[in-house]
Amino acid sequence: MSETLPMDEKYNAHMSKYFREYEESLKDPEKFWNEKTKILDWFKPYEKVLDDSKKPFFRWFTNGKLNVSYNCLDRYINNEKRNKVAFIWVSEKGQEKIVTYYGLYKRVNAFAKALLNMGLKKGDKVTLYMPMILESPIAMLACARIGVVFTFVFSGFGAEALAQRINDSKSKIVITADGVYRKGNIVELKKIVDDAVDLSEGVDSIIVVKNAGNRINMEADRDYYYDDIIEDTYVKPEEMDSNDPLFILYTSGTTGKPKGIVHSSAGYSTWVSNTLKWAFNPQDSDRFWCAADIGWITGHSYIVFAPLMLGLTSIMYEGAIDYPKPDRMWQIIERYGVNILYTSPTAIRLLMKFGEKYPELHDLSSLKTLGTVGEPINPAAWQWFYHIIGKDRCPIIDTYWQTETGGFTISPSLDLGLPALKPGSATFPLPGIDPEILDDEGNEVKPGEKGYIVLKKPWPGLMLTVNNDDKRYVDVYFSKYKNKYLMGDYAIRDPEGYYWLLGRADEVLKIAGHRIGTIEIEDALVSMKEIAEAAVFGKPDTVKGDAIIAFVTLKHGFEKNAGLIDSLKHRMRDNLGPIMVPEEIHIVDSLPKTRSGKIMRRVIKAVYLDHLPGDISTLENEASVDEIKKAVEVIKRSGGD
Ligand code: PRX
Repeated sequence: MSETLPMDEKYNAHMSKYFREYEESLKDPEKFWNEKTKILDWFKPYEKVLDDSKKPFFRWFTNGKLNVSYNCLDRYINNEKRNKVAFIWVSEKGQEKIVTYYGLYKRVNAFAKALLNMGLKKGDKVTLYMPMILESPIAMLACARIGVVFTFVFSGFGAEALAQRINDSKSKIVITADGVYRKGNIVELKKIVDDAVDLSEGVDSIIVVKNAGNRINMEADRDYYYDDIIEDTYVKPEEMDSNDPLFILYTSGTTGKPKGIVHSSAGYSTWVSNTLKWAFNPQDSDRFWCAADIGWITGHSYIVFAPLMLGLTSIMYEGAIDYPKPDRMWQIIERYGVNILYTSPTAIRLLMKFGEKYPELHDLSSLKTLGTVGEPINPAAWQWFYHIIGKDRCPIIDTYWQTETGGFTISPSLDLGLPALKPGSATFPLPGIDPEILDDEGNEVKPGEKGYIVLKKPWPGLMLTVNNDDKRYVDVYFSKYKNKYLMGDYAIRDPEGYYWLLGRADEVLKIAGHRIGTIEIEDALVSMKEIAEAAVFGKPDTVKGDAIIAFVTLKHGFEKNAGLIDSLKHRMRDNLGPIMVPEEIHIVDSLPKTRSGKIMRRVIKAVYLDHLPGDISTLENEASVDEIKKAVEVIKRSGGD
């Protein structure tokens, strides 16, 4: 496959389906989505495809009734899909569990009954803090079955971060596991939940799945083992409105408080199932492995909902991809005959570091298609993935999207017609997605110029709102450019129309594909008794994309000493979780600030990275820049903090 195609060859026949569908999706969305939403089974037809009377609160498929768990399960149990494998689950220790569609249906019903018995009803909220075990999709689907809105909190978050999300979502029940193995060690999830519940309000019960077998504290009349409460019976799926929320998923933004992204039942389901089909065109006999964590949007959409709605067989792996050895991922592909592998640039860069000898140990010939998500993929990682893993046979589907968009927005499409790929470009928008790249004034930039990427038209996967905060939804996403959805990334459209996504245009970092707000970390730092001020920024990291660097000043009466930085890191780990711990924390006497008192993160970052700090004439304390410079020199001399 040529990596760049000349203009005149680009519009060749095999892409005609793409151009036809794309054009129709924008010209006549009513007709287009009427057709595409037939991918779902409806209890009652909707009245209108799109109600945009309350822009930017777009409502799709209004007044229709359906149930997402029904669409993932019930519709297969009386046909040949009944005995098809839904998930092949593999643990870090190599244990394996296989569940068919019928088996999953039975287990979802049994857990839905347990939730009903606990008094949950339609519209209630629960928090899931669970590892990559089968009970996670079971819990998500059981909630969906009875109309309970779930909030999944990634199990790498610490107690305070969990408590904040429990409180904001007003969850009554937390579902967790005793623990999980991570690189041979047990992470004590139940203990973290106990701490989080102490810090939060309104949690009546905790349900615990036995997984790692570690000792845990069970409080009478509050804590219940999953195995003790499930009941093998049928639970009628609740008739949900198209625009009833399916789940809330928190994501970082530019304030200390994460945003609860609320997704709908019908629009979201229509979007994720169609986008999976368009981008990867999975076949009935394929084995699909989305190697993300279920606690992030990628896991929600493309481990659970879309693959089940398309009736696919998925691999679910609980463990680290480089443990016990760096060939773990390749071993799983060989053992289970994986046909489609969907992973992140960070994972590729990590495995690339160990060299070609590990993939060479395994037969990877089952692979047909590769995919990436979460951050821009650098050409070197793309080439390695393409040549060494895909053996030049497998297209790389670079999917650009985000928590708020529900599913892929810009991505090559195997189903509609694969464009010639260019390493590092997510290529073209999927149907329904109408991007534009704008400058600060809202003018479209010229081809090849960098600007902010916006989406001009609504699409069914767009979130409903930010939980409890309609204003924030409008302010963050629809106010820089009125009624255009601001994705928060920089992008370039090249002269051939390909989109190149360049990373965040705001104070959000991408650490190993995880989205982390610098201000969230600063808030956590300044909430510690020793710290007066904090400035956090990202340093480019060859594997993780960004690494977190913090500069802090101490409160009066506290002194820098050898153990302080370790102690701060330790507490950050407990409070926020390992993914939020700064790699370096530097203690200085003052931070550069504007006269109005705003800390100049950009100046600190520039000095740290040896770039020119730009205009510093607005600084209140120019001397602090010299101080940062000195601190950086010390760091460089000592090779660390
Ligand atoms: O900056 C973009 C980056 O990830 C952000 C969304 O993060 P999150 O909501 O956590 O969802 C990640 C999984 C969908 C985007 O704003 N991003 C995601 N995919 C890509 C990407 N950047 C470049 N190329 C991608 N393929």
